[in-house]
Amino acid sequence: MSKGRSRYVCQDCGAVLSKWMGQCEICNAWNSVCEEIIQEGQSGHCAQLQSDFFACLENNTKNDVSASSSRRLTKIEELNRVLGGGLVDGSVILLGGSPGIGKSTILLQLLSEVSGVPEFVYISAEESIDQVLLRARRLQLNNPHLKIASCSNIHQIMSALASLSSGSIVIIDSIQTIGSDIIQSPPGSISQVRFCTQELVNFAKKSTVTIIIVGHITKDGAIAGPKTLEHMVDCVLYFEGDRSYDYRILRCEKNRYGPTDEIGVFSMTGHGLEEVSNPSAAFLSGYNAEVSGVAVFSGVEGTRPILLEIQALISPTSIAIPRRSSVGFDANRLSMLVAVLSNRCKMNFSTRDVYLNVAGGLKVTEPAADLAVIAAIISSTFQKPLPKQSVFFGEVSLSGEIRQAHLSFARMKEAQKLGFEEVYCSHKTGDHDGVPNVKIRRIKSIKDVFSVVNVNRK
Ligand code: TYD
Ligand code: MG
Repeated sequence: MSKGRSRYVCQDCGAVLSKWMGQCEICNAWNSVCEEIIQEGQSGHCAQLQSDFFACLENNTKNDVSASSSRRLTKIEELNRVLGGGLVDGSVILLGGSPGIGKSTILLQLLSEVSGVPEFVYISAEESIDQVLLRARRLQLNNPHLKIASCSNIHQIMSALASLSSGSIVIIDSIQTIGSDIIQSPPGSISQVRFCTQELVNFAKKSTVTIIIVGHITKDGAIAGPKTLEHMVDCVLYFEGDRSYDYRILRCEKNRYGPTDEIGVFSMTGHGLEEVSNPSAAFLSGYNAEVSGVAVFSGVEGTRPILLEIQALISPTSIAIPRRSSVGFDANRLSMLVAVLSNRCKMNFSTRDVYLNVAGGLKVTEPAADLAVIAAIISSTFQKPLPKQSVFFGEVSLSGEIRQAHLSFARMKEAQKLGFEEVYCSHKTGDHDGVPNVKIRRIKSIKDVFSVVNVNRK
């Protein structure tokens, strides 16, 4: 048995220190320094190279990776879309999300059936086998090739996985609850998380088994553990949503094998997660056109247009500095739009609170939502509802001009699909003859929005 050497690592910033200390001298965190034992094994300088060490693009018989053969489509269409066309063999995917959002549920559902996959393994370190079986029955899983285990020791897990055939799918739930006994710090610490992930990544690459790792998130919303964790894996997914709503959004942060801008929409039901194939209809389900302060925004997530309801409320303030509060929209951008309205249209918000909400628990990051936000604020200020069946999109510049948004045609088509009759967008938006039954109202400046709600303001 080789000798172990100690080193001291800060669990907050990952700094390696020469001795133990109560406060990390790099990041100043208290009680974060832990001892780690490093096993000194043999050095690798005598490694012998195999003849197929290098592979070439052409005439490559061993790694015959064609785009379709290395991808496996799961039964969950929304997940395939987010992954850029299915699971890639030998890839390692990290799925983060707050507790109770449905990570374990979606992964267990994923294991229901994927064509051509020899074995399915679900290893839970958080729940017992009985608890997982109970959930699998509730989800009506019926996969004879599914193996479930409850284990928190990475070495045992690696031994169990060693016999898996190439192309199998393994779920590890979760990386913060598994650990190795050769590392002194407890499971969930930086060194344990890093060590276990490295073991799993090495195994996935060597045996072309797909591994999906569940990661807990910190209160700031990032995956707990070292930031390097995200660099070690091929794909980082976040499962988001407000637990008070049924909707769950699957978002991709990093993808070595596909785009990162697609989202998947699910709803949590009594028998697991269901895909939402028409998110616009779902997010507009509570929309009431008779009310003031409500605008419909035609947004784009990835390549998919989604209609969303943007609600604004303007009310007299009771404090010296009025509030600018937003849910689902960037607060700085809201303050900027309020400043543009005050400056360019001489509206007075110095004694008014401005509240903004994106209905359904969704987050909007596109600048194209500006026009809808402005329309909702103006509508709420004058207590006049926006025209029925109207949709807004366009970026607002500091001068108050409406700028063109990308994918305008797709946004208009989505509005038409949902039965909307008017689309308000930038005057620079091109001609789209192909959207019947939709009137396209091109506007130049935010001042034009006043006439939309029949307010005379010159
Ligand atoms: P879970 O997958 O355990 O969350 P995570 O692994 O992210 O912590 O999901 C737990 C939540 O999902 C819990 O609040 C109950 C709910 N749920 C349903 O509503 N229906 C179901 O069929 C299942 C399995 C869970
Ligand atoms: Mg779980």
